[in-house]
Amino acid sequence: MEKKGFSSRLGFVLAAAGSAVGLGNIWRFPYLAAEHGGGMFLLVYLILAVTFGFTLMITEVALGRKTGKSAIGAYKFLSKKCSFIGYLEALVPMIIFPYYCVIGGWVVKFLGVYITDQGSAATSENYFGDFIGGVSEPLFCLGIFLVLTSVVVLLGVEKGIERVSKIMMPILIVISIGLSVYCVTLDGAMEGLIYYLRPDFEHFGIKTVVAAMGQLFYSMSLAMGIMVTYGSYMGKKDDLEKSVRHIELFDTGIAFIAGLMIIPAVFAFSGGKDLQQGPTLMFVTLPKVFNSFPGGNVVGFVFFVLVLFAALTSAISLMETIVSVFCEIFKAKRTVVCIVVMIVAFLLGVPSSLGFGVLSGVTIMGKSILDFFDYISNNIMMPIVALLLSIFIGWIVKPRVVVEEVESSGTFRFRKMYGILIKYIVPVCMIVILISSIIGYV
Ligand code: TRP
Repeated sequence: MEKKGFSSRLGFVLAAAGSAVGLGNIWRFPYLAAEHGGGMFLLVYLILAVTFGFTLMITEVALGRKTGKSAIGAYKFLSKKCSFIGYLEALVPMIIFPYYCVIGGWVVKFLGVYITDQGSAATSENYFGDFIGGVSEPLFCLGIFLVLTSVVVLLGVEKGIERVSKIMMPILIVISIGLSVYCVTLDGAMEGLIYYLRPDFEHFGIKTVVAAMGQLFYSMSLAMGIMVTYGSYMGKKDDLEKSVRHIELFDTGIAFIAGLMIIPAVFAFSGGKDLQQGPTLMFVTLPKVFNSFPGGNVVGFVFFVLVLFAALTSAISLMETIVSVFCEIFKAKRTVVCIVVMIVAFLLGVPSSLGFGVLSGVTIMGKSILDFFDYISNNIMMPIVALLLSIFIGWIVKPRVVVEEVESSGTFRFRKMYGILIKYIVPVCMIVILISSIIGYV
């Protein structure tokens, strides 16, 4: 793989943040927070982000920068016996990508809704359910999203994406802040704000921790090789610890704002009874918000353009990870691999999409098909990878490898804690998470 490298630390932070900030922040975080007790979920998430998230992200980035390789190569480089961890990491995006595109398709549909000025129709009770329950329309939208993603990956216009990210991301932040201020001041939103911000110990439980952990991996694109790859592009002199902190701050900040935008609105429009909506929450609540003020259609349009953009940048890096792995393994041509990945992803996306309609009778472990893939990747695969990674670094190659890499470009203030976390706390917690996931706590 060619190594172009990022031109500056800011370039690295923005590119990594562009990959991390996606549907996970805007779509997934708010519905999980709503479902798992609001303030309690938020608190658990924040604690996990500054401990686990930080530890795992700095490990992955350091591994990448040290070895100059992507996940598969990096593990192989450090230990031949452990190279299977790299392969496992590479498997996770393959599970996520197809269903990620299904949700991306939903965003495309809503963009269409606002372009054609049907914003008020979208507020009717069954609008969203009817749409995802259909066959051709959601599949068509999935196709559009996949083609958009594939075209960019095929063209490899990384420069373009990076440049556009720099413009779009700030706009997304401004619009989200504006909308969240509006939502918080809606009639009846106060109760939602309190629910979202005040931790209520009644909601604390292993279930909350497992959900928050899954979300952390997902949102920060951890345990799937992406941060290793990005680390390998990073400048040798750039401060690693600071960069990782900035990526985390970016990612968590946007998730937090998305929660502020959606949860108070749920209370304002439905008195809180929609909290358990799950994956559909954003698509049901936000149209009501947009419909509630003059010019809401235009804001809805801009909002979904930006969500689409955030989703696309993440989907592109998911697909890029998959494509580069296959190119490496099969030594195949990039174009061919891209097209094959696109077709296979579509076929794998079909059952996830139909799971809300004709296949709604099919449930796996009590979950819809899309939920099942989401669960397998975030609550089972990622803890396994994180467990192996922490044993690998903590006990086999030793934390020194990471510490030295971080210290080669700056101080490592979190050093002492890092050793303890990666050796003891991360593995133990991963085992607990795994067991509770498997015995069906979630
Ligand atoms: N983090 C992305 C989001 O929040 C989704 C994602 C998960 C991802 N894993 C990834 C993106 C790997 C790129 C690469 O939506």
